[in-house]
Amino acid sequence: MATANVNGINLYYEDTGSGDKTILFVHGFPLGRKLWDGQVEALEDGYRIITPDLRGYGGSDAPDDIESYTLELYADDLAALLAELGVDKVVYVGLSMGGYLAFPFLRKHGDKVEALVLADARAEADPPEGVEKRSAQQAQIRADGIGGLMEVLPKALLSQTTWDQKPDVIERAKALMQHPDNGWLGSLQAMKTRPDSTDQLTSIDVPTLVIVGEEDGITPPDAARKMHELIGGSQLVVIPEAGHLSNLEAPEAFNGALAGFLNDL
Ligand code: MLT
Repeated sequence: MATANVNGINLYYEDTGSGDKTILFVHGFPLGRKLWDGQVEALEDGYRIITPDLRGYGGSDAPDDIESYTLELYADDLAALLAELGVDKVVYVGLSMGGYLAFPFLRKHGDKVEALVLADARAEADPPEGVEKRSAQQAQIRADGIGGLMEVLPKALLSQTTWDQKPDVIERAKALMQHPDNGWLGSLQAMKTRPDSTDQLTSIDVPTLVIVGEEDGITPPDAARKMHELIGGSQLVVIPEAGHLSNLEAPEAFNGALAGFLNDL
């Protein structure tokens, strides 16, 4: 087990591959590091790759104090992990919540980022009805566990195309969502309290790739286009027949876009 003691908890991570550049893959909610298995396999021959489980996920500790979970704290955990591993610079690749937390990571630890990939993410904070929905989901988990949300979330995360044609991807997504209640509760807490980061977009000055699944209903293509327009020199790739989990639903297209971006760095 590879764990690092960061900010008072044990954080699980995998550190594989080798190359001049290091990629930090940051998963979304409620998924864990294995979300990135398809990308690790495709890229580990040319890059060092670090895939952590955020606090609350997989092999990492899942502290009970749910109020303490913030995107800033996740970002601090990642920076402490990189310090522990002696890594100075990374290509930061975040999907969804992993993309949301790129913004505090850049604010607090921007010197560690040499390039950025924002996949199925957005810069805006939750609207009031979104905050209410997350609070209701937290209440549901506290009352009954994650079972009820497991009934509805996979459908929301995946495209209709995946839902109709790719039963193996549906099963894989469901398997990736098995994490302690505290992990779910903590991410809902962190996401619903996150600030708007739109103003930060124009100051991002590292090479940036914005990726979005064409059928993403959670962070739709319009949100990706807005980030692309505001981040100078950024590239935008829209992936057909993919929803919010574009890397899992259309790995060939996702990996192709990512490899092209990395090659150009
Ligand atoms: C994620 O994939 O991280 C979440 O679905 C994003 C969200 O709920 O806003």
